[in-house]
Amino acid sequence: MINSAPRAYAIDARACIRCAACATVAPDNFLVKAGPARVRRNPTTAAEALGCEAARALCPTQVITFTEGTAGAELPAGPLPTELYSPVMEVAEAVRWKVEDLPWASFDPVKATPGLRAVVREMAYSEQTTFSATQKFMEAFGADTDFSQWISVWFYEETRHPHVLLKWLALAGEIPGKDFVTEGRASQPFMKSQTGTLVTNIISEMVAAHAYLQMVGGAPEPLITKLVERLSADEARHAASFFTFARRIIGKAAQPDRERLEALKVLHFWFSASKSVSHPVNASMDRLKALLPAVGAPPFVAPYDRLAKIIGLLTQLPIETAADIGPQMTAQTQRIHAPAP
Ligand code: SF4
Ligand SMILES: [Fe+2]
Ligand SMILES: [Fe+2]
Repeated sequence: MINSAPRAYAIDARACIRCAACATVAPDNFLVKAGPARVRRNPTTAAEALGCEAARALCPTQVITFTEGTAGAELPAGPLPTELYSPVMEVAEAVRWKVEDLPWASFDPVKATPGLRAVVREMAYSEQTTFSATQKFMEAFGADTDFSQWISVWFYEETRHPHVLLKWLALAGEIPGKDFVTEGRASQPFMKSQTGTLVTNIISEMVAAHAYLQMVGGAPEPLITKLVERLSADEARHAASFFTFARRIIGKAAQPDRERLEALKVLHFWFSASKSVSHPVNASMDRLKALLPAVGAPPFVAPYDRLAKIIGLLTQLPIETAADIGPQMTAQTQRIHAPAP
């Protein structure tokens, strides 16, 4: 939830990893071409202001800042985009990396320790689940041509993640068994609502982006540090893309309060019982938590504040921390069941 007073945004370019999450959720306000992201212009509508705040929450390196504008001034509402596939796909193309351009020659076998290989193996395994997710996205969203076209971009980018991790493992002398890929594709249950599904993916992509950057914090080996930075950037932009599509679904819904409640339910499960939520990223994060100390990375903590904030922005409800979720679920349920005036 934001007020829509004018704000002036800025980016600390030194720590920008060119993920383009900002340009995905606020394309009129942020631009990523060659080099780090930059501010195109400050928001002139409330819709753009919400996009800019979403960019701040999604930014994996937290380098977007703002200064408040004139107190009491309000921005006009502003429209939401009607077509998303082209702009979201074009932002993705502007930051797409080539496998051959990654610094393969920088691999240092001495630093590819058994502990680091275990972390990379776990990440490569969990990345395989996008295969079954894509099948389910196509079933559940097949009628949505805009979204289903974008899923082809998502799936293409996701298949490169285990590919580069497995290439690194091969350099380290480790070739996983022949069933590694097929076993990793194990099917996972999907949420019943489209909004719930998209929110699950906003959260899981943000958590994955955060986990990859945490691994860099351990500075384990030069090549893997560069690889996981690129993967983190992709995941952050994927979270932004799912956010953009979810925002439109809620904006166009006949009963937006019901969609908001679906979003809150997912957030509630992640905060209250994330171990029991059957999403592959959760299971993988639990395994990674046990493995990361061996590579010198700090203890893994999910980016809870940013997760609460992004779903607060999506639902346009005042959610900043875990404590805000329960009361907002109750209020939302009461609104849905209130007798018509
Ligand atoms: S969201 Fe990504 S591209 Fe934008 S400023 Fe943050 S790191 Fe840079
Ligand atoms: Fe991925
Ligand atoms: Fe992703």
